[in-house]
Amino acid sequence: MCETKMIRLGVLASGSGTNLQAIIDSSQAGKIPARVAVVLSDKADAFALKRAEKHGVPHFFVDPKKFDSREDYDEELIRILKEHQADLVILAGFMRLMSSLFVQTFRNRVMNIHPALLPSFPGTHGVRDALDYGVKVSGVTVHFADEGLDTGPIILQEAVLVLEDDTEETLHNRIHQAEYRIYPEAVRLFAEGKLKIEGRRVRILGD
Ligand code: GAR
Repeated sequence: MCETKMIRLGVLASGSGTNLQAIIDSSQAGKIPARVAVVLSDKADAFALKRAEKHGVPHFFVDPKKFDSREDYDEELIRILKEHQADLVILAGFMRLMSSLFVQTFRNRVMNIHPALLPSFPGTHGVRDALDYGVKVSGVTVHFADEGLDTGPIILQEAVLVLEDDTEETLHNRIHQAEYRIYPEAVRLFAEGKLKIEGRRVRILGD
C-alpha cells in the first residue's frame, strides 16, 4: 500500500508561470494531494509571482545580483524553502542551473519540466532547437533534477507531433497543453509515494 499525505510544494519560476497555475488549479480541484506553500523567482517582474499573490501563496523575488556566487544564492533559496517546509521543489520555467548544494539538499525531491523529449534538445531553447533540427515529434519531459543540465532521471514524457506549418510559438502552445497534464500528474505520483528511483530509471509503482 502506498501512503498518501498532503505534501507542500516550493515552486521556482522565472516567467509567466502557467505551469505553476496548472499545479495550483489541480491542487485546488483536489486532483493532487499537494498544495503550493511558497513561490520563488529570480525575476522581479515574473508573472508567476502575481499568480501566487492572487492565490494567497507566500512569494518572494530573490535577486541574483545581491549574491556573490550561485551557491550563496541557492543557500537563500534553500533557507526560504525550508522555512516554508517544502517537501518537493518544482522547477517551473526556472531558467537557472541549480548548484550541487541545492540538488544535494533536496536530493530526489526536485522536479524539472522541459519542453522537449530529453535527452534531445536540453537547455534554454528546447522548442526552437527541436523545430530547427526538423524533428517530426517533440514533446515534454518531467524529470528529477540532478547536477547536470536537464539530465536527471525521467519521470514522465508526452509526445507532441510537429505540424508542417508550426512556428516556435504554435508548437510551444501545444507543448504547454501537454505540460499542464503531466506536471500535476508527476506531483500526484510523488505525493502518493509511487515513484521509485532505480539508477537512471524511475519506476512507477502500481497506480
Ligand atoms: C515551459 O514550457 C517549460 O517547459 C520551460 O519554460 C516554460 C515555462 O512556462 N522550461 C525550460 O525551457 C527549462 N529548460 P511557464 O512559465 O508558463 O510555466
